[in-house]
Amino acid sequence: MTTPTDSSLPSDRPAPSLASRPLGVAAIGYAFMGKAHSNAWRNVASFFDVPAFEQKVLVGRDATQVAEAAAKYGWAESATDWREVIERDDIHIIDICAPGWMHAEIAIAALDAGKHVLVEKPLANTLGEAELMVAAGAAARKRGVQSMIGFNYRRVPALALARELIAEGRLGTVRHVRAAYLQDWLSDAESPMTWRLRKETAGSGALGDIASHAIDQVLYLLGDDVTEVSGRLHTFVDRRPRSADPESALEDVTVDDAAWATLTLASGAIASVEVSRVATGQKNSLKLEIYGDKGTILFDLENLNELGFLDATAPVREQGFRRILVNEPEHPYLEAWWPQGHIIGWEHTFTHQIRDFLSAIASGEAPSPSFEEGLKVQHILAAIEESAAAKSSLIQLSTHATNTATATTIEGA
Ligand SMILES: NC(=O)c1ccc[n+]([C@@H]2O[C@H](COP(=O)([O-])OP(=O)(O)OC[C@H]3O[C@@H](n4cnc5c(N)ncnc54)[C@H](O)[C@@H]3O)[C@@H](O)[C@H]2O)c1
Repeated sequence: MTTPTDSSLPSDRPAPSLASRPLGVAAIGYAFMGKAHSNAWRNVASFFDVPAFEQKVLVGRDATQVAEAAAKYGWAESATDWREVIERDDIHIIDICAPGWMHAEIAIAALDAGKHVLVEKPLANTLGEAELMVAAGAAARKRGVQSMIGFNYRRVPALALARELIAEGRLGTVRHVRAAYLQDWLSDAESPMTWRLRKETAGSGALGDIASHAIDQVLYLLGDDVTEVSGRLHTFVDRRPRSADPESALEDVTVDDAAWATLTLASGAIASVEVSRVATGQKNSLKLEIYGDKGTILFDLENLNELGFLDATAPVREQGFRRILVNEPEHPYLEAWWPQGHIIGWEHTFTHQIRDFLSAIASGEAPSPSFEEGLKVQHILAAIEESAAAKSSLIQLSTHATNTATATTIEGA
């Protein structure tokens, strides 16, 4: 990618006026996330009260394929040059669904042009890019231009409820957290190379891809900060066919297949994080367990409408895990959907994400998770990599006034 330079620092272009409604939206990328986000843009206004917008342009590289996708997913037009789209006066929002190596360049150019930006996780592939994005986002915010990172699991109603219960003190003092995000789409050693397996395009492997989600959940649920990190990375299949043709030459895999980390939080709690893309049989298993001195919460993405809750303040003879079906109008986001018990799915998290982003644009309040929150996750990911390279040495993250952190090795393993 082209590394953003001083010439791409934010200009003075203000936020698009809401008087210029409807807001014009462009999405960049039309594959996995492009499809999931398109689905959310298509249905959000049917369920939530959001400012008027139009799905204007879907952007991709292949003109024919992106045109087909645009027609299918409800976009008025398609285009192949994201720079031209960003410069259009009728585009006010840029939704970045492209790989991580493009995030910084597109986001900074869009913010510079006065467009609100939603970018998929992880924020960027390198700390340097992430820091430039934070600077661009902060400067744009002063002009009323909003930016947000797409940690969509914050928008699972059961996890939003878990955060509320923890904040209300229902678990007492949180002692430790187990966060595991396990997939198996790389279990087959013949599974070919993709951009996700090359460091120059993906930044890292399971670490940036799915540990970013797990770590964001730890920060989100506990409302806490990480102070120390110890990590380990491993690549089990270090050479794979270059293409889907199994006869094709082998290429080196330059990212991790799996990662492990222990995180110390400012509160004194400890979190273990375990992620893998070679956990045979596990398709997309995000499991979270939060243990406090007054209670415990359990969550499993495969049953995302449910939360396990144990109240340790109840009489011991009545204690046990209760299954909360998170489908009541009182629960986060649920009032907009179906009658009680008519469960929702993974795709609804993206609809909630768009709803929250549009609401922030309408209210002028900065949305969360911000680029600053994305950068915090990046620092933790970088510290895990640094620790792994130093035989799991303990790395300390010190928080600075700028709300960024630096990683320094303080202790050998
Ligand atoms: N939130 C989640 O649960 C989740 C899940 C998967 C991926 N992601 C993130 O979403 C992002 C995209 O991942 P994906 O799985 O959709 O990838 P993908 O490979 O399925 O799609 C990438 C898209 O980017 C487009 N693209 C690439 N270069 C382009 C260019 N120069 N101009 C325009 N478009 C270009 C491709 O055409 C493709 O449509 C990544 O940051 C990834 O980490 C998030």
